[in-house]
Amino acid sequence: MPAYHHPLASKLPTVGTTIFTVMSRLAAEHHAINLSQGFPDFDCAPELRALLAKYVNAGFNQYAPMAGILPLREAIAAKVEALYGTSYDPEHEVTVVPGATYAIFTAVAALVRPGDEVLLFEPAYDSYAPAVEVAGARPQYVQLRYPDYSIDWDAVQRAITPRTRMMIINTPNNPTATVLSGEDLRMLEGILRATGIVVVSDEVYEHIVFDGHRHQSVASFPGLAERSIVVSSFGKTYHVTGWKVGYALAPRELMAEFRKVHQFNAFVTNSPVQYALAEYMQNRDAYLSLAAFYQKKRDYFLEGVGASRFRPLPSRGTFFQNLCYDAVSDERDTDLAIRLTRERGIASIPVSVFYREPPAHRVLRFCFAKSEDTLARGAEILCRL
Ligand SMILES: Cc1ncc(COP(=O)(O)O)c(C=O)c1O
Repeated sequence: MPAYHHPLASKLPTVGTTIFTVMSRLAAEHHAINLSQGFPDFDCAPELRALLAKYVNAGFNQYAPMAGILPLREAIAAKVEALYGTSYDPEHEVTVVPGATYAIFTAVAALVRPGDEVLLFEPAYDSYAPAVEVAGARPQYVQLRYPDYSIDWDAVQRAITPRTRMMIINTPNNPTATVLSGEDLRMLEGILRATGIVVVSDEVYEHIVFDGHRHQSVASFPGLAERSIVVSSFGKTYHVTGWKVGYALAPRELMAEFRKVHQFNAFVTNSPVQYALAEYMQNRDAYLSLAAFYQKKRDYFLEGVGASRFRPLPSRGTFFQNLCYDAVSDERDTDLAIRLTRERGIASIPVSVFYREPPAHRVLRFCFAKSEDTLARGAEILCRL
């Protein structure tokens, strides 16, 4: 086995194996019910599988255009205009990419320079800070207010400095399961008006918003759309997280810079998957029915844990339900999550891993993108604690 014998100053010295890998491995080892990592335990629609097979068998197996195949970019632009009222030019303002994580990394690499500051909210999805650090920039954090995880907009205003180049927001939010309101986005629009700050808006759960509320996209707010790279993912919407295909939307000037980096990284995204998605997107019901589909799962899980000593925090979007365990244990959330997997056979994600310093809150995140049988068995275990 070859080994490297020279000094190596890591660009990401604090990054190790993620908790998602650790918990999924532990869950497999202990045959635990895995409500930790965020992916469905059910398959995508048979029509979508058939479409992929159709395009692979028809020979759509060579490089796609750098920005993505035009029919898919057109379908994305049409959907966004219908839902959020803003028109993006498929030629210059829509790019298909290998997943949302890739889009976020690309946006940061394209627009952030060493010494810049990037504003993040804490708790934060785990890919944001490393993307900023690899670019030589510094993450600056604003804390979401516990227990409702709302944004203190005065704190945001105070955190902005002349070095702030970018802000990354995420709605519906992983891990808090909150959604931003129209009022939140109007506040943000006002705060950023006089600045050149770029917003990266991670909206991968855009179609999973509950209780009759609508997803508020930055695309709907002109003062935000003009400075934003909107990121979404087909993985969450069509139960195909393993396909790793997503897209970015941005004004032409920002998209031109984004594509310069994309062109020399992945360069293109999987072709037959794009053809399959372009055709499948014609069926609007597939994404419009997603919120009701997951709301039913959320409610089923909530009913299941109703008799437990866990206290649910509101889940207004995503496919996560946070449970506060104040009445169950005073262990640290990482210790409890590991112990529950080993001893009780249920895996979750401790929410403290989304913070730099573990907060005192006692919250575990459970993914309910699972079959009813899995959710029922998971809830039964939680009720016995
Ligand atoms: C908030 C958020 N952004 C991005 C992603 C990743 O999306 P993709 O698989 O398309 O890279 C996830 C997946 O868990 C997520 O929760």
